Amino acid sequence: MSGFVEKPVPVQVPGLIHLHTGKVRDLYRDEEGRLVMVASDRTSAFDWVLPTEIPDKGRILTQLSLWWFDRLTDLVPNHVLSTEVPVGAPADWAGRTLVCRSLDMLPVECVARGYLAGSGLEEYHRSRTVCGIALPPGLEDGSELPAPIFTPALKAEVGEHDENVPYEEVARRLGAETATLLRQTTVSVYGRAQEIARDRGIILADTKFEFGYEPDGEGGRRLVLADEVLTPDSSRFWPADEWQPGRAQVSYDKQFIRDYLSSPASGWDRRSEEVPPPALPEEIVERSRAKYVEAYERLTGLRLELTPAGAGACSRPRPAGALPVQALLVQARPGMTKGALFRVRPSVLLERMTGFEPATLTLAR
Ligand SMILES: Nc1ncnc2c1ncn2[C@@H]1O[C@H](COP(=O)(O)OP(=O)(O)OP(=O)(O)O)[C@@H](O)[C@H]1O
Ligand SMILES: [Mg+2]
Repeated sequence: MSGFVEKPVPVQVPGLIHLHTGKVRDLYRDEEGRLVMVASDRTSAFDWVLPTEIPDKGRILTQLSLWWFDRLTDLVPNHVLSTEVPVGAPADWAGRTLVCRSLDMLPVECVARGYLAGSGLEEYHRSRTVCGIALPPGLEDGSELPAPIFTPALKAEVGEHDENVPYEEVARRLGAETATLLRQTTVSVYGRAQEIARDRGIILADTKFEFGYEPDGEGGRRLVLADEVLTPDSSRFWPADEWQPGRAQVSYDKQFIRDYLSSPASGWDRRSEEVPPPALPEEIVERSRAKYVEAYERLTGLRLELTPAGAGACSRPRPAGALPVQALLVQARPGMTKGALFRVRPSVLLERMTGFEPATLTLAR
C-alpha cells in the first residue's frame, strides 16, 4: 500500500476547475484554459505522501523554479505565464501559484545524471549500465560520470515507482524525433544548471525535467519546459566541499525525513505493506525546512523572506545599490529614448530598479 496518508481536499475557487491532485501540486484550469499550478507544503517519502507538511516548502520550490526558468530561457521556452493569484483564490496561494500554458505533457521523466546515485547506482551495481547505457568499471556511490547522460523514466501514478527505461523505449513510444529532442534539451539544460550550481559550491548530481508540446502557431508544435525545475524535490544537490565518492553524499533533500522514517524512533516498518507512515516530529520538520531554505539561499544568493501566510505581498526595503527609476533613466545611453529603454525585458528592468530578482517579487494586488 502507498499513496496519500491523508487525501487532500482541493480548495474550491469560483472560475477554476480542479483537474488533479499531485503529490505536491494541485492543478486547476481557469476560464481562459490556462493551467493554474499551486504548490502545497506536502512532502513524500518512500512513495507515500506524508501526513505532515513542511511549512513554506511550496513557496520555496515555486520561487526556486522561477529563478531557474529565468536562467534557461535562451535554451528552452517554459510554461510560466504569470504568478498572479486568480481572483477569488485564497490569499495564501501567493508565492506558490504559477499560471501556466496548458501543455500536452510527454509521459516521460527526463532525467539527466552527471554523477552516480539512487536508482542509477542500483542499476550500475546490477549490470554496469544506467538505462542501458554502458559505464566504465570501478564507479562508486557518488562518482562523477565521464559525461552527463540522459536516463529517462516512465511516469508512474501516485504511490507507484517511476520506471527507468532505455532511450530506445522512449523513441519507440514517442517517436525518434521527440526522443532526440528530449535528450538534447535535457542534457543541455542540465549542463547550464550544473555550471550555475558549481559557481555556488553545489554539485547538481542529477535532475528530472518534464516537458510538453504546444502548438507553435504555424501549424507545428514546440517543446516547452514544464512543471517544477531544479528544486531539491526534483534534483540531487550536494555541497561540493563535502563530496566524497564511495559513500552516500550529504544532500539538500529529504534525507532527514527518510532517515527518521527508517529509524526505530519512528516506530514504522517501511516494509509493512499495510501501515502508512506516522507524523513527523517537530524537530524533523524544522530541520527539513531549514534545508530547503538553505538550498534556495545558496543557489540564488538571495535571502528568502517569506510573506506571512495570507499577506499576499512581499515588501522589503530596497537593498543598498538598487537603482530608483530616475537613476535608471540617467544610466541609459545618451540619446536612448524612453521607448527604447522599455523594450528592455521588463523583468530585467524590475530587477535593476528594485534590486530584487523578479522571482522573489510578489506584487500586491
Ligand atoms: N504546463 C503543464 N501542463 C500540463 N500539466 C503539467 C504542466 N506542468 C506540470 N504538469 C503536471 O502537473 C503535475 C504536478 O504535480 P506534482 O508536482 O504534485 O507531481 P507528481 O507527478 O504527482 O509527483 P512527482 O513530482 O513527485 O513526480 C504533474 O503531473 C505534471 O506532469
Ligand atoms: Mg512533480
